Amino acid sequence: MTRPVESERLRALPPYAFAEIDAEVAELRRQHVEVIDFGVGDPTLPTPGPIRRACREGVERYADAGYPAYAGAPFFRRAAADWLRRRHGVELSPDTEVTATIGSKEAVFHLPQALCDPGDAVLVPSPGYPPYAVGARFAGAEAVPYGLFSGNRFLPDLEALERSLPPRARLLWINYPNSPTGACATREDLERIAAFARRHDLLLASDEAYIDLWFGEHAPPTLLAVARERVLCFFSLSKRSAMTGYRVGFAAGDRELVGALRRLKTNLDSGVPTFVQAAAAEALADETHVVQMREEYRAKRDRLCVALEALGLPPARPQGTIYVWQPLPPGLDDREAARRLLRPELAMVATPGSLIARTLPDGRNPGAGHLRFALVPPPHLVDEAARRLAATPWLDR
Ligand SMILES: Cc1ncc(COP(=O)(O)O)c(C=O)c1O
Repeated sequence: MTRPVESERLRALPPYAFAEIDAEVAELRRQHVEVIDFGVGDPTLPTPGPIRRACREGVERYADAGYPAYAGAPFFRRAAADWLRRRHGVELSPDTEVTATIGSKEAVFHLPQALCDPGDAVLVPSPGYPPYAVGARFAGAEAVPYGLFSGNRFLPDLEALERSLPPRARLLWINYPNSPTGACATREDLERIAAFARRHDLLLASDEAYIDLWFGEHAPPTLLAVARERVLCFFSLSKRSAMTGYRVGFAAGDRELVGALRRLKTNLDSGVPTFVQAAAAEALADETHVVQMREEYRAKRDRLCVALEALGLPPARPQGTIYVWQPLPPGLDDREAARRLLRPELAMVATPGSLIARTLPDGRNPGAGHLRFALVPPPHLVDEAARRLAATPWLDR
């Protein structure tokens, strides 16, 4: 028998979960139904004009293209360090404590290859961004999910984690503002988590891709404001500046961890195009477009959440991110709810929570009974979604 083409690791991944939804969406579109897509968190806004201009100018300025600097151009690392100081009061060396990433996804995925050995355990939030767990597995480590529940403000339950900590626990991932629950962590929450990590000799990785998208009175803190040693934070331009297609972000924190990530990445990629870094530096220097971005997401959040609350669903307004994590009435399965939303009268895509959460060792799936709405459709389509939700009963049948 011939060997399968895919490696064992690749074959061990769960099959693509959204094939059924994608097929139904394609069928609706074939019938010329306007589908309102709250599925994938890819902003539909254009990248702000000054950032696009900086990119164009960058193409000319760096006409001798050549390979970019592995760690990021000095001007980009300086812009990232300046942003951390200005926005968060955190002082880091752009030379040794900041490094460029190709968006955060690749760095999130690759980090365990720089830090973990086979048999180590990586603690990942459930629900949570899939590359935390898949990246751990591809490094030969074990991904151990911990649950995020509303009863604990979607924070890790440190006492429960303490009781069940695997002997070879090596790395703890956190993500605040949290995708998909929309929860933010306070400074005190982060201090508790950092103390826990220190006590158990865990490396701490913090995905802060949504740190600029918040709706409360105060900006949420970065973990770097409370801890630096054995901590690495991941920032992204993707959502803050509607730059998903540019693929640029940075990691910052403990110089040893920055050094390990850099060393790994010199072996697997050749950096972020310098003209993209020019665009990203321009984006980091400006907060005006970010304020507008927040206001737009806030308006969409309020519009959708009011419509969902009017149906009698529990209030679920996120404090940050671009997601609404909506609990459903008891007894309504999240996959069934997502299917009902695809009826032609509604034609809305939302993600079933159980498909983006990992089952915990105790058998619970923290995503069960939830739908995730990514607030990415333009405002007039969010209005239209609110109208359809009010006009078409879908929760009871
Ligand atoms: C929680 C979280 N982290 C990181 C990312 C990665 O974003 P990017 O690779 O575009 O920087 C995403 C993207 O959706 C995300 O939801």
